[in-house]
Amino acid sequence: MSNVSAVGTQSFATEKKETVSKKLRWAIVGCGGISETHLGAIKKLPQIEVVAGCDIKPERLKVMKEKWGIEAVYEKWDDMLREIKPDVVDVCTPNGVHCPAVVAAAEAGCHAMTEKPMAMNPAECQKMIDAAKANGKKLAVGFQFRYHPACEMFVRAREAGDIGDILFVKCQALRRRGIPNWGVFGQKELQGGGPMIDIGVHIMESSHYCIGSPQPIAASGNCWTYIGDKPSEVESAWPGWDWKTFTVEDLAVGQIRFENGCIMQVESSFSAHIEHDIFNFTIMGTKGGFNFDTQTLYTDHAGTMLNSKAAFLPTAGFDTLFVAKLKNFADGILTGSPLRAPGEAGLAVQKMIDGIYRSAEAGKEVAID
Ligand SMILES: NC(=O)c1ccc[n+]([C@@H]2O[C@H](COP(=O)([O-])OP(=O)(O)OC[C@H]3O[C@@H](n4cnc5c(N)ncnc54)[C@H](O)[C@@H]3O)[C@@H](O)[C@H]2O)c1
Repeated sequence: MSNVSAVGTQSFATEKKETVSKKLRWAIVGCGGISETHLGAIKKLPQIEVVAGCDIKPERLKVMKEKWGIEAVYEKWDDMLREIKPDVVDVCTPNGVHCPAVVAAAEAGCHAMTEKPMAMNPAECQKMIDAAKANGKKLAVGFQFRYHPACEMFVRAREAGDIGDILFVKCQALRRRGIPNWGVFGQKELQGGGPMIDIGVHIMESSHYCIGSPQPIAASGNCWTYIGDKPSEVESAWPGWDWKTFTVEDLAVGQIRFENGCIMQVESSFSAHIEHDIFNFTIMGTKGGFNFDTQTLYTDHAGTMLNSKAAFLPTAGFDTLFVAKLKNFADGILTGSPLRAPGEAGLAVQKMIDGIYRSAEAGKEVAID
């Protein structure tokens, strides 16, 4: 049971260290909402210098120039790669563009980080991994929640033997009404899916990392659309989504079976009839358990059942988690330190998401390669 084969570990251990005494010359592809969170985090990372931005929308390139002082802006990444020759390409486009942008970056001799989810499907993830390897470049996925101090607290407890064998993980990324009213999040052909691939991915990647990244072998699940494809009839925080182009699910639930016998249950929604939004995972092991949201460990000790909370954990805002994920990648390139979210970790999570979507279509459990 404890024989976990990890897929989320550093895969470049033997790669030659790149001794870059200068700053990493960093270029962004996709200059929309999340790129600005990256740019804010990069201000706290002296090892990174942003040298270019690329977006198909001129108005976003104007924001890059005027708000962030990025002088070199491009509408096509081929032009940017050829003229700027960055060290790193940071891909912040819609999901359907992650794979071609990363492959182009690797083939141009750049390290690449892509935002979550890694891509549209596992085949694209494999293509990205292969391109990075073939060109001797590093590839990371922008999974920030594995840098959350609560995840780090759990991993330390697991590695100290306090949890035992992990049996079951319950993941929830549930919004009562939170359909993105920007971007293309409702369009399946551009995103690969709805809440499961967009926010379920966060809770799956962080809990999968916490439990030691076991190999997924089977999935079952279902998806339903009942609100997003119609005009809204209620007031909500994010009104006015594009219901006419909405082709993804409102709610997806699924179950993943891992090769070590562990089961992960996932629930994810943009719209669900629930009391309030939930973003949480709970873990049950033979010796201990954990609740991510309350940051509580459950154990037995000296004849007593204990609920343990840290006396101190660093704060974890969106900004600090983004600093951590970008720093891990930059340090990995500059010093050879391990990547916490290499391409292989993205592929494993993508296989789980893809398995749930395939099972929903097939109406039965499906195998994961
Ligand atoms: N890690 C997180 O917490 C987090 C949060 C939000 C979004 N994201 C991810 O970031 C990505 C972008 O999300 P967003 O909210 O910034 O969306 P967005 O729509 O605000 O921005 C995407 C940008 O990419 C540009 N783009 C599209 N095709 C392009 C191409 N071929 N070349 C260059 N630019 C192109 C668009 O014009 C747009 O400006 C998504 O994959 C999303 O899942 C991650």
